[in-house]
Amino acid sequence: AIDPQFDSNRETEGTHRGHDVWGPVEEPEQLGIHGTHVAVDFDVCLADGACLEDCPVDVFEWVDTPGHPESEIKADPANEAQCIDCMLCVDVCPVDAIDVDAS
Ligand code: SF4
Ligand code: F3S
Ligand code: ZN
Repeated sequence: AIDPQFDSNRETEGTHRGHDVWGPVEEPEQLGIHGTHVAVDFDVCLADGACLEDCPVDVFEWVDTPGHPESEIKADPANEAQCIDCMLCVDVCPVDAIDVDAS
């Protein structure tokens, strides 16, 4: 599962499509966490796809991650600024890869 305290326990290593990437990153096996308000642990995501299907405002988009041991696509929070804090994605992800900071 994603560490909900990732923003204290990790450091940003760069940005991707306008959102932060929290390390450690060692491509292609270790990809870190993408996003801050809507955060997806790419090392936990196994491409279930429920988050993309259920998000009412289409926050997520697939990105290719060839060579990652869990899955070769990931749900990227490409539009995290559109999030309305419904928490559906957090509830449906079977591996708890997503954290939404609704505070
Ligand atoms: Fe989409 Fe709701 Fe998840 Fe925000 S909390 S990313 S609106 S499903
Ligand atoms: Fe990945 Fe969970 Fe979405 S496994 S694709 S973050 S539902
Ligand atoms: Zn990303």
